[in-house]
Amino acid sequence: MFSRELSRCLLSLTAAVAIFAQTGGAAASDRDGTPSPPRKILLDTDPGGDDAFALLWLQSLAKQRLAEIVAVTTVAGNVRGELTFANAGKILALGGFGHVEVGRCVPRQKTEKDAAHIHGTDGMGNLAQMLPESRHRLSEARSAEDIIIEKLAAAPGEITLVAIGPLTNLAAAEGKRPGILAKAKEVVVMGGVFCRPGNVTPQAEFNISYDPEAAERVFASRNDIVVLPLNVTQRITFTEELAESVRQAAPNSTIARFLVALCDFLTKTTLGYREAEGARGFHVHDAATLAYLFYPETLWLQRARVHVETQGQWTRGQTVIDQRHLAKPEPNAWLALQVDTVNLLASMAEDLKVLCQSK
Ligand code: BDR
Ligand code: CA
Repeated sequence: MFSRELSRCLLSLTAAVAIFAQTGGAAASDRDGTPSPPRKILLDTDPGGDDAFALLWLQSLAKQRLAEIVAVTTVAGNVRGELTFANAGKILALGGFGHVEVGRCVPRQKTEKDAAHIHGTDGMGNLAQMLPESRHRLSEARSAEDIIIEKLAAAPGEITLVAIGPLTNLAAAEGKRPGILAKAKEVVVMGGVFCRPGNVTPQAEFNISYDPEAAERVFASRNDIVVLPLNVTQRITFTEELAESVRQAAPNSTIARFLVALCDFLTKTTLGYREAEGARGFHVHDAATLAYLFYPETLWLQRARVHVETQGQWTRGQTVIDQRHLAKPEPNAWLALQVDTVNLLASMAEDLKVLCQSK
């Protein structure tokens, strides 16, 4: 009897050690110590250098059983759709999540100016050859809108939709199945800028400006869209020093080597465009969405009614709020307007180290 109990005990201990080793050891838990289930995330992205950093951070959180990656859908933006699809597959393979489904982008009639001048012609700082092969084929992939619809409809209120590229796919899903975005647990968007200059025009931020009609449709889909605008993301500069600290924590890691090289590339373009006040680093815009979800103490949010300018000759893509002290009975968003940069970056770097130490 005793020995059966003991062996059962040993078995569960072995299983626990195996899970610990696989996941890096951490797990979400409630105050009473009960493990809480990982947060289900569907990421819509246009990799893109800062998208790559966000996707690697997300994979670290998934390794630590804080997040579950339901799917990754790709959208044209920083570079064209074929490349963002290929890049997403490769970054997932790099992080050890090559099995996650990748959706291909919904085509648009209009082609916009991309951001290859910032992210490299391949979108990966011209470093795509450092990445492993993706197991995903564009010709076999399902469309982003269908994946979004299927996943949200199957688990209403359970999945957080994180959008870190133009909102084309989200709007297409809403257009095809009205009400589908309301089935997400939360919709968290990196995009927009409020009462400050934009980064692609004097008024507009890249993700919103790329497809303003889509953005307007997403803001009309529910009244609690969480927005991480340039107001906070331009304060989050991932420096060469931070990248080096990640490499030092895992000197043989292929992920760390890639992160350092990509940081180096993005630092140069950022300096060229005078974007980070001369600092040797680049803005990890997209990572702010994960900070909001997993380190919420680093951001402060405000309610607002957001409109997107779709007509203006000089202001197309501008995100507009009314700051006059007049009643606003129908806010549709939560805007992050202040950030604890130091602690956000420290948490991100520590999580990246966890991932790098695993591979
Ligand atoms: C946004 O635009 C893209 O270039 C970045 O990846 C980020 O999503 C910042 O304006
Ligand atoms: Ca992006």
